[in-house]
Amino acid sequence: METVVSGIRPTGRLHLGNYLGAVQNFVRMQYEHNCFFFIADYHALTTQSGASNLKENVKNILVEYLACGLDPEAAALYVQSSLPETAELYLILNMNAYLGELTRCTSFKEKARKQEENINAGLLTYPTLMAADILIHKATKVPVGKDQEQHLEMTRNFANRFNKMYNVDFFPEPFSYNFGSQSVKIPGLDGSTKMGKSENRDNSIYLSDSPDTVRKKVMRAVTDTGPVKKNQPKTQAVENLFIIMKAVSKVEVYDYFQEKYNQCEIKYSEMKKQLAEDIITFTEQIREKIISISSDDAYLNRILKEGTDKAHASANNTMKEIRSIIGLSEI
Ligand code: TYM
Repeated sequence: METVVSGIRPTGRLHLGNYLGAVQNFVRMQYEHNCFFFIADYHALTTQSGASNLKENVKNILVEYLACGLDPEAAALYVQSSLPETAELYLILNMNAYLGELTRCTSFKEKARKQEENINAGLLTYPTLMAADILIHKATKVPVGKDQEQHLEMTRNFANRFNKMYNVDFFPEPFSYNFGSQSVKIPGLDGSTKMGKSENRDNSIYLSDSPDTVRKKVMRAVTDTGPVKKNQPKTQAVENLFIIMKAVSKVEVYDYFQEKYNQCEIKYSEMKKQLAEDIITFTEQIREKIISISSDDAYLNRILKEGTDKAHASANNTMKEIRSIIGLSEI
């Protein structure tokens, strides 16, 4: 049994990319390992500069975690900001995180470009906070999508650096984990390579989207004018639809449209209709559960209380040892 940690930022509703890249794996790991799944509300603050509907977003993610099949009896579910030990470890790790490696981080460069007016220290030290989330439970497996791999590599660097600095064998090395062995990156409907990357809501299919919304979004998805010669390479936008289809449709359906494409006989409208129905079927049970759980606040609070207690017990142990290794006050 290994220790598993992962989280999601509460910046909106969960989309198909979050589910296929991360949450689906949380569900499959929960009975095999010692799992901690949290909602990264501190991380959400790095991209917002004032009041927002953070509380509502946190609740929505919790509801969606449960609707996707997370079992609070098996995995500890909690909100990042209810674990002060994470903030403490973040502070300590920041003491040996170097400016060079933080500024070189791809996600920092991307976000700094996107929010020129708000390049804050939290954004710069996003990877150290993420490392603290993982190392606070001494986790070895981290189910995440492909976009998080560099953060995992930085986490291993911070862990190894700490071990070397204090001449201890304390932190294990955490690795990203995916059942399909390859990390997943689900593309967007607008032709972009990552669902959820842009602010454009039509880029993403949310698990909470109604069947009608799914149909509308898929029918509006970007395509091209169609292949003109057999076995023609696909444009990014069309390839995106095939990648999503591979994830949600039956193999025969995927193969059928693939063959139609290769023979230059494809009608994108037919493919989109099929894709929309397959997405609706794929997410149907989750959507129904979201609706049934979301009004039970007492149940949701009880789950968070129990998850936080479990997480505290683990985090508190780690912090005690770290304080002793470094020589910090233990009173
Ligand atoms: P976030 O909130 O951006 O995304 C949550 C998870 O969903 C995955 N994901 C995708 N996977 C496949 N295709 C996509 N289009 C797609 N979009 C998002 C992400 O890879 C991620 O696994 N930094 C993290 C949150 C975090 C965390 C942690 C994760 C904070 N601390 C500690 C693991 C461990 C993030 O921004 O995820």
